[in-house]
Parts: sequence; structure tokens; C-alpha cells
Amino acid sequence: MTFNPLRERGIPLDKQLRNWRELNVTPIDPDHADPYTRCRIIAMNGIEVEAILFSHQLARHCPDLELKQQLARVRYIEAQQQKAVNWLLPGLASVLETTLAYEQVAVDLTAWVARMEPDPYLKQAYQFGVLEDFDHLYRYANLYEMIEHRRAEKIVDQLTEVMPGRPTYLHHRDPVDNVREPYDRSSAQPISKLHALTIMAAEQQTMNFYMNVGPTYMEPIARRLYQEIGLIEEEHVTHYESLVDPGESWWEMLLNHEYNECYLYHSFMQTESDPKVKNIWELHLNMELEHLRLAAELFKRHDGRDPEEVVAPALPAPLTFEPNKGYLRELIATQIDYTTLGTGYVQDAHERFEKMQEALMGGEKAPSETVVQENADKSGREYRLETEGPHPVGSLRADR
Ligand SMILES: [Fe+2]
Ligand SMILES: [Fe+2]
Ligand SMILES: [Fe+2]
Ligand SMILES: [Fe+2]
Repeated sequence: MTFNPLRERGIPLDKQLRNWRELNVTPIDPDHADPYTRCRIIAMNGIEVEAILFSHQLARHCPDLELKQQLARVRYIEAQQQKAVNWLLPGLASVLETTLAYEQVAVDLTAWVARMEPDPYLKQAYQFGVLEDFDHLYRYANLYEMIEHRRAEKIVDQLTEVMPGRPTYLHHRDPVDNVREPYDRSSAQPISKLHALTIMAAEQQTMNFYMNVGPTYMEPIARRLYQEIGLIEEEHVTHYESLVDPGESWWEMLLNHEYNECYLYHSFMQTESDPKVKNIWELHLNMELEHLRLAAELFKRHDGRDPEEVVAPALPAPLTFEPNKGYLRELIATQIDYTTLGTGYVQDAHERFEKMQEALMGGEKAPSETVVQENADKSGREYRLETEGPHPVGSLRADR
């Protein structure tokens, strides 16, 4: 059963506006919701934020008044969708709990994308990045135990392991080494373009989130850890956005954005366990089908090409949140000591990397190191959640 979003009819644009009652969604239950429902909400919020920001950038480059007005109409609906999606999160969760959920998204979304990505260079980019967000989860989990006296399994359940990945202090590279080579828009498979957009949007939202919430903490160690990891999310946005071919026209980029929204709502509709949330995914899919139709019209008019030349004729297999424990352990065992040099990867610390490290550390330990030590001193041992046995790297075992 194939689903071609270019051939489906959605909700006409002038029927998409929602009133206050319709926007007033019921949040998920903070204690009993499926952690992967929360992950889908966080991922989809990042996608809607990107839809809004991308449309603003496009509008700022668009001299045609009528076009700008059409962009504004669709963008207002994207803004309502973002409100409906992000307001599914319950107000009860603390900022740190939401942070743990953001890193769980980064881990299980990126690991899934790495597993499914057909292009070896792109696959390597996801495998490289996922080991870093995996380590962020471990650092924040230790902060959480230290300042909120709770365990991260309250958030991640038993679905995602919490233990060291590539140590966070080693993520600080010279910015030059964060830029990757892009895929080629004429030969890349459609699924590769969707993967790159999805991970870029998720990391961008994480970067923005830490930018804003980091200074809301009073504890010095929390403030410092958010600064450190916030800077790494900047690196991650640079890493992932550079995978997208900058040779795509604005209309081609718009088409890819709307197509990706259709793909993800369709994926989540098929895999959602919460019926109320599933209804929202379905409603939003029907809105996106119309956004896609409008984007396809613009693409035909301005680029003079057929949209089917650019996007897949049928939606790829659904993107799924599921445990990736074995896959992550294998990556930890084989790629933990990787860093980047230019647009490639190496296993040795090179001169430019060492220089950046020295300048940034200023002779001190990074907050991401201190936080684990301080929690171990306070709680009697550091926090980990190793459900599949001891750490795959001997020197990183808890009993080392
Ligand atoms: Fe949207
Ligand atoms: Fe992260
Ligand atoms: Fe990240
Ligand atoms: Fe859209």
C-alpha cells in the first residue's frame, strides 16, 4: 500500500485555521505516557519550528508581495501546528526533565536514521553525531540526580541506556572541522534528503532550547553544563545542516520541507500509541498535504520542473522510535575515539583539535566532567542505566 502525498487531497488552506478551543490540546500524562510519545512530540515540534523559521527566511528573500502573503498564510498555520504540538507537553515536567527527553530524542532518532541511511558518507555523519548526544544524556542524568534527586529512568524508562559515549569535553572541535560535504541533490536518494532535514531541525531546536533555558538555573554547575552542551549543539547544527545541498533553489527547499512534514506526520500516525495524540498527527498530515500541493505549484511555476523529479513518488517506510541499544553499543565499541579533520574523520587528536581544546578549557576541567564527579561524591556513585550488561569499553566501566 503506497502513499503518494503529491496525489492526495488535504484540507483546503482557508479551512485550516483553528480557534482557541481547538488549539487548547490536552497534554499527555507526565507519569504514564509512553516515553516515545513524548519523543515524537519533541521531534515534531522541532520540525514545525524549522518550517516557521525557514518560511521567514524565504519571505525575507522574496520581493513579490503576493508570494509573501501566501507564505504568511501557510506560516501562520505552521505556527498554530507548533503550538498544538508543543503544548502536548505537560507543564509539570522540569526543564531538566524536558532536557533528558530532548537528548533521548537525539539518541533514538539519530540512531534510527543512521541505521536506515543508504549513503555511506551521510550514515557516517549520523553515527558520529549520535555518540555525542548519547554522552550528553549521561551528563544531564547525573545533573538530574544531583540537583533534583531523581533518576533519569523516570524519563527514558528502560528504552534508552544511560552511560558514557564519546566524552563530552572531546566534542569541542575547531569550528572549521564541523563542516561536512553536502549530498548531491541530483543523485541523492529522496530518503537521504528527508533524513538530513529531520536531524538538522531536531538539533536546531535543541540548540535553541538550551540557549534559552540554560540561565534559568541557579545552581552554578547546571548553568555551566548548559553553556557547554549548548555550544556543542551549535556544532551539531553546523555538522548536519552542511549535509544539505546548498544548490537547491528556495522552491526546491520549500518542497522538501513540506514533503518531510507529510512523511513524519504519516510515520507518527502509523506508530503512535496514544489515540488522542494520533488524532493530532492525522489532522496535521491532512493540513500538510495542502501545504505540499501549494509548494509543488510554486516549484512548477518558478523552477519549471516536475516535483516528482525531486521527491519520492511514494512515502518511504515510516520513521520509528524504538530502542537502538545493540546498535549504539556497537558504535561505542568501534567509533568512540573518532574526531573530525576537515570534512572527514580521524582517530587521532590533531593539531587544530588540540589548539581548540587548550583555548577553551583554559587549564580547567570541563563542566561535563565536574558534574559526574560531583554527583558521584554526593550520591555515592555516578548515575548510569546499563540494561544490557557492562559498558562495551573496558576503561569506561563503572567499576573501573
Ligand atoms: Fe507544519
Ligand atoms: Fe545533545
Ligand atoms: Fe546534538
Ligand atoms: Fe507545512
